Amino acid sequence: MKHFLSVSETSDADVRRIFDLAIRLRQERREGRPNAPVLAHKTLAMIFEKPSLRTRVSFEQAMYELGGQAIVLTNAEVGIGKRESAADIARVLSGMVHGIMARVFEQQKLVDLAKAATVPVINGLSDEMHPCQALADALTMMDEFGRDLTGRTLAYIGDGNNVARSLAAVCGKLGMKFVIASPEGYDLDRGFVERVRKNMPGLSLTETRDPMAAARGADALYTDTWVSMGQEQEAEQRRKVFTGYQINGAMLAAAPKHAIVLHCLPAYRGYEITDEAMEGPKSRVFPQAHNRLHVQKALLAILMGNA
Ligand code: CP
Ligand code: NVA
Repeated sequence: MKHFLSVSETSDADVRRIFDLAIRLRQERREGRPNAPVLAHKTLAMIFEKPSLRTRVSFEQAMYELGGQAIVLTNAEVGIGKRESAADIARVLSGMVHGIMARVFEQQKLVDLAKAATVPVINGLSDEMHPCQALADALTMMDEFGRDLTGRTLAYIGDGNNVARSLAAVCGKLGMKFVIASPEGYDLDRGFVERVRKNMPGLSLTETRDPMAAARGADALYTDTWVSMGQEQEAEQRRKVFTGYQINGAMLAAAPKHAIVLHCLPAYRGYEITDEAMEGPKSRVFPQAHNRLHVQKALLAILMGNA
């Protein structure tokens, strides 16, 4: 694996390696044993066009715990495509650091960085995808249901956005069923659905307008914000359209007893999820956030440390 730009472009074998290693590194950490410094003297440059808590901290902490370090670059400093091209940035950074993680608006910027970089490029979220998040989400479901998730159902309630696309792809990789309930106009885009069906012929993908129907068959119920970063001017309209697509007590009552609740965070309580669902016994949202650290470590060790 040279880069990590999306789940669907990652081989099944590499996906398995990421989970194997994440679980091992997490176990070492839980036992109070420091992980081997496989990234000693190595540096990750992190470019952020958008804000972040989990992505920034998990990558920076992952580099630190594996013996390396990270440099944070904001868009105001770097200006991909404004101050200089993605290709020039990639070529400069490739001579100074050992990996690049970027959170960008357009996926194309990641593709352009990867094309010109001689070091690995990692997608830390784009408008199209959030593959690192989907890895942590899958690990959280493995923690609950066991390593083999074949036949399990992930019901995603809400916007057919970057997080939803990466979840669909990870479900395809793991033999899970992906059910998405979204209001009209906010479905997964048709181009993506065609591509994912073509690239992952085994994927079971169901689209519905009925969130309760989706919840009834769920092993995991998942939601994300109704208003993603960059869509703030649509907030009022979106909050109207998505009413009814909320994970709340009534939805949890409709879901199977064993179903868990996931959210990539940040959560807008009272909109896509209630306090009751976030704080209740079915919620796994905080272990899910913590799993970002463990999958990030595995990803970095494989890409930059030849693990
Ligand atoms: N879930 C997630 O990616 O969080 P941040 O936006 O805080 O990084
Ligand atoms: N869909 C959200 C995810 C945040 C982690 C966004 O893009 O803002």
